[in-house]
Amino acid sequence: MSNFIHDLDTGVDDAIALALAATDPSVTLLGVTGTYGNVTTDVGVRNTLDVLALVGRTDVPVYAGQGHALEQEAFHRHEVSARIHGENGLAQVNIPPSPRSVEPERAIDFLIRSMHELNDALTIITTGPLTNLATVLIEDPSLRSWKGSIVVMGGALTVRGNINHFSEANISQDPEAAKIVFESGLDVTMVGLDVTMRSRLHLRDAARWRSGSGTVGAFFADMLEYYIAHTLGTDETYVHDPSAVICALHPEYFTIVPLCLTVETEGIDRGRTIVDHRRLTERNPFTKVCVDVNAHLVDSYLGTIAICATV
Ligand code: RIB
Ligand code: CA
Repeated sequence: MSNFIHDLDTGVDDAIALALAATDPSVTLLGVTGTYGNVTTDVGVRNTLDVLALVGRTDVPVYAGQGHALEQEAFHRHEVSARIHGENGLAQVNIPPSPRSVEPERAIDFLIRSMHELNDALTIITTGPLTNLATVLIEDPSLRSWKGSIVVMGGALTVRGNINHFSEANISQDPEAAKIVFESGLDVTMVGLDVTMRSRLHLRDAARWRSGSGTVGAFFADMLEYYIAHTLGTDETYVHDPSAVICALHPEYFTIVPLCLTVETEGIDRGRTIVDHRRLTERNPFTKVCVDVNAHLVDSYLGTIAICATV
């Protein structure tokens, strides 16, 4: 059994990743922490509660995290986020409101508490900017010796970025936070564009979800169809955030290289994930990066764990 906390900015692919984690029988989802990115933190938290309720997981607590990047005063949503994820973050698809509310405890306190309590028995999956995790490390530096695992959807090492030539969206939102996390000494696995752009979700997945079971399948199918139309515009799209959940559960699907990583925070390549040249000869790098994926295995995982069939 794997104990997960999912930290996310609930747009379309976050919602699919969340549903995978929330409905996989081998996962204990201890809680979900919200951040900004595809939407504001408040909207993301609301979306998270509603998606969890839709897949039958009103038992999972949801905590609100930081509202903006470490060195910013506020968060301003990118136009492209509204285009790809829809104004509501969920592809403009209607979803019944969850009866549950956000927890009064801060996401940061929940993360600190859980990391101390579970130590190496906890995996944190992040599919949004790394501001919450960096804030945890700033507020409780003792957690730099934490023994659990972090799986990060973000970055681009061997391929170009998706925000500009150099940087991927999640890292680009808060490069300072990502640098803190990557240099922290914690066990971090980067699941970046290097692999998320090699796997695909297809219109046929949407069709299968739609035929599977009533409103749940229809919701995810509607979202995926919108997302496909507004990303690649063909009959398929990339598998960004779900890849982080799949990597946490099935690292054997990926080629993972130990490498000391950091993030550029200055110049035109601000937000670029790079190999830390100061630690090139490090014998036991604590960070790892996925450089290849068996897309067929990802495809068959997405096929067998059809979201709508598991609830
Ligand atoms: O670059 C892909 C990432 O940006 C994903 O987490 C997606 O949800 C968007 O935020
Ligand atoms: Ca995301």
